[in-house]
Amino acid sequence: MRLNLKIWRQVGRDTAGRLEDYSAADVSPDMSFLEMLDVVNEGLVRQGKDAIAFDSDCREGICGMCSLMVNGVAHGPDRGTTVCQLHMRRFKDGDTIVIEPWRAKAFPVVKDLVVDRSAFDRIIEAGGYVSVNCGGAPDGNAIPIPKDVSELAMDSAACIGCGACVAACKNASAHLFMSAKVSHLALLPQGELERGTRVVAMIEQADAEGFGSCSNEGECEAVCPKEIPISNIARMTREYVKTLFRTRD
Ligand code: SF4
Ligand code: FES
Repeated sequence: MRLNLKIWRQVGRDTAGRLEDYSAADVSPDMSFLEMLDVVNEGLVRQGKDAIAFDSDCREGICGMCSLMVNGVAHGPDRGTTVCQLHMRRFKDGDTIVIEPWRAKAFPVVKDLVVDRSAFDRIIEAGGYVSVNCGGAPDGNAIPIPKDVSELAMDSAACIGCGACVAACKNASAHLFMSAKVSHLALLPQGELERGTRVVAMIEQADAEGFGSCSNEGECEAVCPKEIPISNIARMTREYVKTLFRTRD
């Protein structure tokens, strides 16, 4: 296949960016989307030009590093799929593909398609952990947890922190990401003790980072590669409101 690419190029955080046209020739339908970009980059390097910067690591859908808007959709057209797992068979010869970085005030562009997602790390530092001493792994396993509860917690723990939910949201809200972490920890007995302080600290940190609030658009759920449901946001909001009432005096 031959594809026309419109790719966002931006030298640095404080410079203006623009979409630039590239042509990708001899693209195999079996290539992943990132392999296609690797081939484009090899061509640019051979011509002595600056390679297109983009994030990736595992390329197996588990690390959360890859982060591209493909034709305006975070992670591209396949539901429940990271962009590293998207394959070129999804496109047709002659297609034009627009590739942009995540867009959110709290995720500033570092270069081209790479954004700074350290705001997520600071939200986790604010409360996304359990500091109660639960003993070693065998002690943790000795605490009985009903199967349905552990499954629900595991479903939330599947969040890979990619930030697609923020990129897709018109408010650039981090609620789906936070609610996955809050649900994962609050559902388990080990996380019970800090559930109130955790949710307040994480939401306050998200506000300080410049993420917006949630207006129930559902765009986050639609693009989440781990299909985290927005029912988690309802759980997080309940936790937050309960804590505010409990501690208001
Ligand atoms: S909730 Fe989904 S989209 Fe948001 S950071 Fe986690 S895995 Fe990515
Ligand atoms: S590169 Fe690890 S999830 Fe895509």
